[in-house]
Amino acid sequence: MVDVLEILKKYSESIDREINKSLISIDPKSLRKASEHLIKAGGKKLRPSLVVLTCEAVGGKPENALKTAAAMELIHTFSLIHDDIMDKDELRRGEPSVHVLWGEPMAILAGDTIFSKAFDAILETKIDDVSSSRVLEALKTVVDSCIKICEGQACDMGFEEKFDVKEKEYLNMIYKKTAALIAAATRSGAILGGGSPEQVEALSEYGRLIGMAFQIQDDYLDVISDEEEIGKPAGSDIVEGKMTLMVVHTIEKASPEDKEKLISILKSGSEDQVEEAIALFKKYDSIEYTRNIALNNVKQAKELLNILDDSESKEALLHIADFVLQRNF
Ligand code: IPE
Ligand code: IPE
Ligand code: MG
Ligand code: MG
Ligand code: MG
Repeated sequence: MVDVLEILKKYSESIDREINKSLISIDPKSLRKASEHLIKAGGKKLRPSLVVLTCEAVGGKPENALKTAAAMELIHTFSLIHDDIMDKDELRRGEPSVHVLWGEPMAILAGDTIFSKAFDAILETKIDDVSSSRVLEALKTVVDSCIKICEGQACDMGFEEKFDVKEKEYLNMIYKKTAALIAAATRSGAILGGGSPEQVEALSEYGRLIGMAFQIQDDYLDVISDEEEIGKPAGSDIVEGKMTLMVVHTIEKASPEDKEKLISILKSGSEDQVEEAIALFKKYDSIEYTRNIALNNVKQAKELLNILDDSESKEALLHIADFVLQRNF
C-alpha cells in the first residue's frame, strides 16, 4: 500500500514555514502560545496538501498555492480549537486542548486570531505569479466554506437533542461542517493552478465527496478506536449525544425498545454505556451501511479525476481518496 502519510509530508515543511510566518508576530505572547499550540502538535495536513496537489494536478506551480495551503490549515485548526470547546473534548492531536491549557476565553481568541491570519496569508499570494482575479476567486471559495463550517457546527449542536434526524439532514450537516472546507481546498488549488472551469468543478466535487467520507470515517473511528490511536477522546460522540449516520440508521431500523434504549444512552451522557450503543449499531448493520455510503463517495471521487492528465499529483489524489477510509487516526 502506498504510504499516503509520506505524500502528505512532502509539502509539510514548506506549509509549516508559511504557517509560522503567520503566527510569529502575534502579540501578547500568551495569545501567540495559545495560537501555536495545536499547530505545533501537528496534524495530518490533509487540507493544505490538497491545495498544493490540486494546483499541480491542473498544471500550476505548487509554490503559488502555498499561502492558501497554509490558510486552509489555519482555518482547520481554528475550527478544531472552537470545536473542542463546543464538544467539551480535552484532548487534541495527542495534546491537551487549547481551552484546557489557557481557558475558554483565550482559546476563543486563539481561534479567532488564526482564523484572521488565514485571510492575511491568502492576500499575500504574489499577484505577479497568479492573477489577482484568481486569488479573489480562491478567496471567495474559502470564505464561503467558512460560513458553511459555522452553519454545519450549529446544525451539529442542534442535533444533540433531536432524535428524529433524517439521513439527508445528517449528510447536509457533515457537508457543511467538514466537506465544504475540503472542497474549498481542492477548488482553490485548482483555481490557483489555472485549471479549466470543468477541472475546477470536478476537483471541487472530488473534495466534497472525499470530505463526506472523511467525516463518516471520523464518526466511525470515534466508536471503534482508542484515545491513544486517534489522539482525541474516543467514544465522545456517544457521550455527547451526537448524531452520526450510525445513530440515524439504527434509530430508523431499530425495534421500538432498541430505539428507546439507544436514545436513553445518548441522553445519559454516561461513558459506561458506549459499548451497548455500539452493540446496537452492529445489531442493525449500521456500521456496514455507513461504510458502504462512504465507499461509494470515494469511488465517485476517484472517477472525477479522469478529467486530469496523468501525473504524480493525480496519483497522489487517487491514493488520498482511498486513504480517507483506510486511515485509523
Ligand atoms: C479532524 O480532522 C476534524 C474533522 C473534520 C473530522 P483531521 O482528522 O484532519 O485532524 P488533524 O488535522 O489530522 O488533527
Ligand atoms: C469536526 O467534527 C467538525 C469540525 C471541526 C469543524 P467533530 O467534532 O467530529 O471533529 P472531532 O472528532 O472532534 O475531530
Ligand atoms: Mg464537533
Ligand atoms: Mg469534536
Ligand atoms: Mg469526530
